[in-house]
Amino acid sequence: IKNSKLVIAIDGYSSCGKSTVAKDLAKLLNIIFIDSGAMYRCVTLYALNNGLISGDNIDQKGLKSALQNITISFKFDAESKTNETYLNGKLVEKEIRSLEVSNHVSSISAIGFVRKKMVELQQKMGETESIVMDGRDIGTVVFPQADLKLFMTASPEIRAERRFKEFQEKNENISFEEVLENVKKRDHIDETREESPLMKADDAVVLDNGRIGKEEQLNFIVQELKKRNLIN
Ligand code: DC
Repeated sequence: IKNSKLVIAIDGYSSCGKSTVAKDLAKLLNIIFIDSGAMYRCVTLYALNNGLISGDNIDQKGLKSALQNITISFKFDAESKTNETYLNGKLVEKEIRSLEVSNHVSSISAIGFVRKKMVELQQKMGETESIVMDGRDIGTVVFPQADLKLFMTASPEIRAERRFKEFQEKNENISFEEVLENVKKRDHIDETREESPLMKADDAVVLDNGRIGKEEQLNFIVQELKKRNLIN
């Protein structure tokens, strides 16, 4: 890394492999990786566990005051070599990936005051250290001055396939059709919400993850960093 601090923003659709690429990249450059989606998932898990969501209804007033009681942190786990997510000091990495959380997280993350709070926390995380952050609004809202912005895409079918496999590995009983429906529904909410919709930043580089493998993606990003004279 040439500059003292490097900020890399990776945005894109759900399940298109952002986190995998972001993790690998962070490892390669030896900098921090933050999964901003995990933060929205934590808020959703908290809301579910505290009766703030019933059906499609969200108790906004309750959620607003609950936000003051929520702390989200990440700890590096030596064994899995990844950052694990903690909600109020409790490890929730598995719980936040459940289908129930996945089904409600788009509505929670569409709420303005939730985003405001998460963006503040995210910006603080990038203040002092080099960071790779993945999400939906990292290049557009959280770090508009990022050194490198990537926008990742892949077809809904490819993404649903990936998530379906993950569910199967976890022995969750869900059909491919249900997963595909969930992916499409989330795309729609993420793209059409009023508050910071999922959008490619003008200066973001597009990376179609449907076509190329992990190694190639990483190489591609390294080349982009070199082109910008950000790494040796
Ligand atoms: O990346 P993910 O699937 O874990 O994200 C979960 C949800 O959070 C997804 O519906 C979009 C939302 N999200 C967001 O609105 N802004 C971000 N920066 C990250 C995620």
